[in-house]
Amino acid sequence: MNIGIFGTGGVARAIAAKLVSLGHSVKLGTRNVDETKNRSQKDAMGNPPFQEWLEKNPSVTVGTFAEAAAFGEILMNAASGSGSLPALAAAGDTAMNGKILIDISNPLDFSKGFPPSLTVSNTDSLGEQIQRAHPSVKVVKAFNTLSNPLMVDPQLVNGGDHTLPICGNDADAKQKVTSLLNSFGWKSENILDLGDITNARGMEAFLLLWVRMYGSFKTPLFQFKIVK
Ligand SMILES: NC(=O)c1ccc[n+]([C@@H]2O[C@H](COP(=O)([O-])OP(=O)(O)OC[C@H]3O[C@@H](n4cnc5c(N)ncnc54)[C@H](OP(=O)(O)O)[C@@H]3O)[C@@H](O)[C@H]2O)c1
Repeated sequence: MNIGIFGTGGVARAIAAKLVSLGHSVKLGTRNVDETKNRSQKDAMGNPPFQEWLEKNPSVTVGTFAEAAAFGEILMNAASGSGSLPALAAAGDTAMNGKILIDISNPLDFSKGFPPSLTVSNTDSLGEQIQRAHPSVKVVKAFNTLSNPLMVDPQLVNGGDHTLPICGNDADAKQKVTSLLNSFGWKSENILDLGDITNARGMEAFLLLWVRMYGSFKTPLFQFKIVK
């Protein structure tokens, strides 16, 4: 399958490499294609230079957000919180029309340092803002509650036995996303469908706790498991 990912950071890279290993074709979307492909410095999160990563992942192509949107049968949003709505606006509704968009973003505000706060919360969420701005797109919020190594290799923690919440308005889209997540190693019984996209409020607010636990554990390799 062709998959378009908005973003070139740690999340986009981890997922792109996983998808390629599963036989998919991936195009990453970025603001300035030439500038991104030639990046020879670590990014803001300390990831290796993009140029270096691309050399090791030669089958991944890079284009504008609009080109990634047109390429993908399924789309993923791995842009920063503040960059997500601009990235999707640049992608354009024509190219995204009717497609599934797996939204991984978190509305984190690092302007006052660590731990970050949320730019939207309580009665709204970034997932809902994206869905409202692009009503023809089937937004499925997923993967925002855990670090990128775990997204693509759930076995890294507790033998893969932990919970992955998802939400979105379209049942068929959530089913298709679940199948993709299964191929990543996520067991269906651990994928928790919370319901419609308003549940992104809870999933994104979880980051307030996540960053505190990260500060305490000093590792991003943890995830919750719901027991009843
Ligand atoms: N890091 C994780 O493990 C993790 C886990 C769960 C969720 N998330 C969420 O996933 C998303 C990606 O995280 P990340 O750590 O991979 O990368 P990031 O550093 O949060 O975001 C990098 C991407 O955001 C894009 N971007 C930044 N400002 C933009 C703007 N004004 N307009 C359009 N695009 C813009 C950049 O585009 P260019 O390519 O043009 O520079 C880049 O591709 C974030 O929303 C994050 O909160 C991250």
